[in-house]
Amino acid sequence: MSNATLNLNGKTYELPVIVGSENEVGVNVTKLRGTSGAIAYDPGYGNTGSCQSAITFINGEEGILRYRGYPIEQLAKQSSFVEVCYLMVNGKLPNQAEYETFKNTLTRHTLLHEDMKKFFEGYPRGGHPMAVMSSMVTSLSAFYPESDDPEAINLNIIRLIAKFKTLAAFAYKKSIGQPYIYPRNDLSYTGDFLHMMFAVPAEPYEVSPIIEKALDMLLILHVDHEQNCSTSTVRMVGSSQANLFASISAGISALWGPLHGGANQKVLEMLEMIQADGGDYSKYMDMAKDKSSGFRLMGFGHRVYKNFDPRALILKEAADDVLSELGKEDPLLDIARGLEDIALNDDYFVSRKLYPNVDFYSGIIYRALGIPVDMFTVMFALGRLPGWIAQWHEMRNDPSMRINRPRQIYIGEGARDYVSIDKR
Ligand code: SDX
Repeated sequence: MSNATLNLNGKTYELPVIVGSENEVGVNVTKLRGTSGAIAYDPGYGNTGSCQSAITFINGEEGILRYRGYPIEQLAKQSSFVEVCYLMVNGKLPNQAEYETFKNTLTRHTLLHEDMKKFFEGYPRGGHPMAVMSSMVTSLSAFYPESDDPEAINLNIIRLIAKFKTLAAFAYKKSIGQPYIYPRNDLSYTGDFLHMMFAVPAEPYEVSPIIEKALDMLLILHVDHEQNCSTSTVRMVGSSQANLFASISAGISALWGPLHGGANQKVLEMLEMIQADGGDYSKYMDMAKDKSSGFRLMGFGHRVYKNFDPRALILKEAADDVLSELGKEDPLLDIARGLEDIALNDDYFVSRKLYPNVDFYSGIIYRALGIPVDMFTVMFALGRLPGWIAQWHEMRNDPSMRINRPRQIYIGEGARDYVSIDKR
């Protein structure tokens, strides 16, 4: 594709163009400041590519999401979370021997160093588990120091995927004052997490295959989403050559925000608020359209998807299936459906291309699975972990990558002299 041409201050600049494997076009501005003295300006980075990546492809107009080329619809129905973890980190689906080795290696690394249990003791019971997770993940670097040796990095990747679910379950048990349940090697990755979350020493806990399968699919749906806020944070921190654990910890903190992964908890709280208020969701739709209300329809809208979020379609169908398979009903699902029906026919939402996103229905399924609301975003982080790791690893192995250091347009005061306090 021919260069882009920029006319600026009476001069013309030729800017090279790059085209991706799905024909996405990028104007390469890496030399823009050096040649023209000007920078590109794009607050929120909605029109800026930070990297070239071979991990995840999204087409927001057509509602396409693929991990390493595989459509999310196929992976959600046919794969497993552990297999998708292998796919994201290694770039290909494992054969049977590779899968067994990977699965068994993860199983061997689920235990935490016993000294880490002391960290949990310092947290107040009501502390949000995302605060615990971000600090615990960073603390792993105190036990497993980083090295540039690829084998050491690969072992830390295994440790992180294996121990993250133990940290999450321990954080939950601490929050409810129950004893920690240790990992079991005879259970699947997801089954072991459920066991650590809900088993109690006094009685056996049988992992429900329905719940295990539903949670595994939920985790797959959250694995990666190209350069979203938290993944970009992981890359930003990792670009300084900060270690894997510190970089992922930063991603956990970014995900926590209610505009990002924290939205799944906010959706449930919103649905409960509407239910408590008599279920009159049209009142809340009016509030969502009134900027002065400060109310947003949580779980709606997306920077990239402008027709539908393919994950939301899968989750909407799964919500029905999981509830019926568990023999449960949830009035919040009816409220969610009513909100969606109104929004999809309301010009405010249609004109702004606001549709349900991944967070709109996920919370209803987590709730049906028995996951407490303040663990919803931890579940998002558990699912997103392999994507963050794959993106961090891709960046670290990219010889062209430099420390991320955006520029700015200064709008502050001009130069002025210091005045002593007695003269101000
Ligand atoms: C995730 O990037 C990713 O890939 C993220 C994610 C992933 O997998 O990593 O998909 C996960 O974070 C999903 C999004 C979860 N967040 C929410 O559900 C919170 C509610 N949604 C929004 O706050 C918002 O839609 C965002 C944050 C998702 C997108 O924000 P944008 O792209 O910056 O859009 P915007 O805020 O500029 O909104 C554009 C317009 C505005 O109105 P106008 O100024 O044009 O009049 O749409 C309005 C907004 O006020 N709008 C909403 C709305 N979302 C946008 N109005 C009411 N309710 C909403 N939810």
